[in-house]
Amino acid sequence: MYQIAVLPGDGIGREIVPEAVATLKLIGEKFGYVFEFHTGLISEDAYDKYGHPLPPETLALCQSSQAVLLGAVGSPRMDQLPPELRPERAALLAIRKELGLFANLRPVTVDDSLIDASTLKTEVIQGVDILVFRELTGGLYFGSKSRRTLPDGSEEAVDTLVYNTKEIERILRLAFEAASQRRGKLTSVDKANVLESSRLWRETTIKLAAEYPQVELNHMYVDNCAMQLVRNPKQFDVIVTENMFGDILTDQASVLGGSLGMLPSASLGGNVALYEPAHGSAPDIAGLNKANPLATILSAAMMLRYSFNFEEAAKLIETAVQMTLANNYRTPDIMAPNCIPVGTKQMGQLVRDYITNH
Ligand code: IPM
Ligand code: MG
Repeated sequence: MYQIAVLPGDGIGREIVPEAVATLKLIGEKFGYVFEFHTGLISEDAYDKYGHPLPPETLALCQSSQAVLLGAVGSPRMDQLPPELRPERAALLAIRKELGLFANLRPVTVDDSLIDASTLKTEVIQGVDILVFRELTGGLYFGSKSRRTLPDGSEEAVDTLVYNTKEIERILRLAFEAASQRRGKLTSVDKANVLESSRLWRETTIKLAAEYPQVELNHMYVDNCAMQLVRNPKQFDVIVTENMFGDILTDQASVLGGSLGMLPSASLGGNVALYEPAHGSAPDIAGLNKANPLATILSAAMMLRYSFNFEEAAKLIETAVQMTLANNYRTPDIMAPNCIPVGTKQMGQLVRDYITNH
């Protein structure tokens, strides 16, 4: 029996998470796995009920589960709260930190059916298969912050970018290991020409590389990486980078795969892993049955793979997504000429229909 905590969160999270849960239920029936789902409150709902976007009840639920499925957090109403209560920091960053999820995996693949949905040329993106390891519990996101008024009356704000060797090493190890099991290429992205934290990152990478002679390591500055991702993304196999660089580069990389609505993620490193789409809560389309549920459904596939080791079931979900796209069904974010427009629910159902029949 597997306990799964389900945190739909805000906005479209409430529409896409049920599609992923229904998919997991179906997989359970098909393969004979018993999944138990426990819904918890995070962000706006939690704030309304408990006065905090990440109440102890929700954290305890996650800690007593084997895996967590999260939709998205962020809403216009919550934006009005003071910074320490805003859900991005008080819920999302906090849950990552509390659960010790230092490694965020974001696989960027280009499905042949979606090549036309990308703004990039076919020959540039066809066959792209990149796995990004984003450090998730350090760097600018978690360093001390402050603000003060200067003598001349102007304001000064400080964010601190801190990394220690241990934090760098543990994410690098996961990335080196993944690279050895893939095409053996690791690109470490930093800004070592300017930042001290990046120089430590690079030194640590070079030292660790001695333990992984089978992996071909290269270093790339983040600005160059941003350019290379659109110029020649096929040069990449595994990318590893610090928190904020990873945040920015993965939004950019998602466009290779057609849309941010296609990019799943797994956050690993602690006792319980968390799975969430890389996109946000999209308040502008919330409640309209327009959101693409595929990133969340693919995150559920990652859960099967990384938390439960159910590779066959994970692959079945991924194939079901591929086939649904090959049959030309599209949510608005990936719509293309001559395709069939569908909403959130119908897209989820089409994926499940494929699973039922295979
Ligand atoms: C992501 C998101 C979050 C982040 C935001 C919502 C705080 O952009 O998961 O990539 O920056 O980590
Ligand atoms: Mg982001």
